[in-house]
Order: sequence, then structure tokens, then C-alpha cells
Amino acid sequence: MSDPREQLRRYLEQRRELGERELVLDQLSVEEALRIVGGAPPATRAERAPQGAAEGPPAPKAAEEPPPNDWRETLRAAGAAPAQSAAKPVRASEGIPASTPEVDGQLAPAGIVVGTTSRDLFGARGPSLESLESVAKAIATCTRCPLYATAKNPVPGEGNPDADFMLVGEAPGATEDETGRPFVGQAGQLLEKILAAIKFTREDVFIVNVLKHRPPGNRNPRPEEVSACSPYLVRQIELIRPKVLVALGTFAAQTLLDTKLSIGKLRGQIHRYYGVPLIVTYHPAALLRNPAWKRPTWEDVQLARRILDRAVSGA
Ligand code: URA
Ligand code: URA
Repeated sequence: MSDPREQLRRYLEQRRELGERELVLDQLSVEEALRIVGGAPPATRAERAPQGAAEGPPAPKAAEEPPPNDWRETLRAAGAAPAQSAAKPVRASEGIPASTPEVDGQLAPAGIVVGTTSRDLFGARGPSLESLESVAKAIATCTRCPLYATAKNPVPGEGNPDADFMLVGEAPGATEDETGRPFVGQAGQLLEKILAAIKFTREDVFIVNVLKHRPPGNRNPRPEEVSACSPYLVRQIELIRPKVLVALGTFAAQTLLDTKLSIGKLRGQIHRYYGVPLIVTYHPAALLRNPAWKRPTWEDVQLARRILDRAVSGA
């Protein structure tokens, strides 16, 4: 019997030829799997890895393991366990239905499901951080990652503590770092216009970022920073208990949904984050560079608003 790695490589290359691009192992695309087993470079550009998870899986060990029953086992043995799982606030559990079509199908196709019911998240009572203020205080003195040392101010997030509508961005920029408030720079001004289009002011909603301290020079967040900071985001979601979550941009979407799928694939679906409907849209800063994305963004937030209106009216 030939080397399982070689068998796997051939298998994956076949899959690629058939057009399969996406997940072969919870977190691993065909291209990444091929890279691990030493496959030929792709004909087309590989799907972009999430920001902040750029290191990729560890290099393969020599193929001395016994031939596995399952090619997924070969991948895991080659060090291809879903990478950076510690960098994620929560992981999509196995065995959870992939959609909730009976509810969501009326407005948009169901998408990724992370966690089962809201009780998994909202039922968990941590020993501390009993209020949004205590979360903000903990962030202000946080040294769990090095970003506190270069940042001027923590940016815990702000808004209506009883908000039904919660938005998650990436990380503070220069203006946010100066002021300690999320989305107050140029992107923030655009976000306010987007909110106005669905009849919200920023006081109606709650706005946070995945990272609470600014990465120097606005570089992409690193996996260990996300890992260190995620408990605050999870706790904020627990305390606010929104009826709708909106992930602004690739980074927030991929972090919350624990996926590497591109934003183009994640838009237009109703994902579930511990039971809470989650809509993905473009980051306002991306809209500033690509005005053509304004219309799809407008559609995304309209969808989010409809989901909220329906949730509130109990329909
Ligand atoms: N971009 C973000 O992701 N968050 C902010 O708070 C500002 C800009
Ligand atoms: N830089 C900032 O400081 N804020 C933004 O919203 C975008 C870029």
C-alpha cells in the first residue's frame, strides 16, 4: 500500500479538479490540506486565510504513522488539526444541525450554526464580570496580550446595554485609540449612516470590536490576540443578549463563525451564534475603498433589521 500521504494528496487533487475548494476538515480548505501534504500549487488563487490566522498549520511530520482509516486522520496526523482553535471564542460543536431552515428560510437561507441554544452562552454565569462596566474595567487593566502596551486607550465598546441589535467590528483604529470609543473615525461616520438607513442611531445599538486595544499601525489582529481578547467579546454578548448580531467585515465574521469562508460566501445567510441570528456584511472601512459594496451592505442591514422586527413582534 502506498504512502497514505500520497494517497491523500491524489484524493485532494481530484477533489480540487472537481471544483471543491472549501472545507475538508472543520477549519481546513482543500488548498491548505494540499499544502500540508505537499500538493502542487493551485491553478487558481487559494482562498484567503482569515486575517490574524496567517501562520497556517504546522509543517508536516514524516509519514511514519500507520495508514489511517480515514483521510481526515491523515491530515490530523500531519498536524492539520483545525488551526488556531484556541484563537476562537467558541467552536461550532459537532452534530449540530447545519441550519434552522424552518425559521430563517423565510427571509434568507440558513447559514453556519455556532453553538446550540442561547442557553449555552447566556446560561453560563462567570464568577466575575457581572456587568458591562466590570467587563470594561477588566479590559482597561488587561495585559493578556501585548497590545495594551502600545495602545493609548482601551476601547471596550459602547451603546445601549439593553440593545437588541449588536454590531461587532475588528479592532480600534487611530481615532478610536485616541478617544477610547469604537467606530468614531471615518469608518464610524459611515457606520452611523448605515444605521440611520435602518432607523437606528448609535445610542440604540451596542457597538464593539473583537479586539479592545489598537494593533499598532492598524495591522491585522494576530491569533493569540484574538484568543486573549475573545472572552470579553463573548461576555459582552452574554450580558447584552442581543436579538440580532451583525458582523462587520471578514475578521469579525470569521472569528464569530469560526470559519475561513470568505465574506462573499457568508453574506446573505442567517447564521446562528448560540441561537442568535447573525448577519455578515462588509466592514465600513472596506466600503470607503469600494463604494460598489454599499448597496449589498444596505441589503444586509435591511435583512438584519427585518429579522429584529420579526423577533420583537414575535411573528
Ligand atoms: N474599524 C473597526 O473595526 N473598529 C473600529 O472601532 C473602528 C474602525
Ligand atoms: N481609522 C480610524 O481611526 N477610525 C476608523 O473608523 C477608520 C480608520
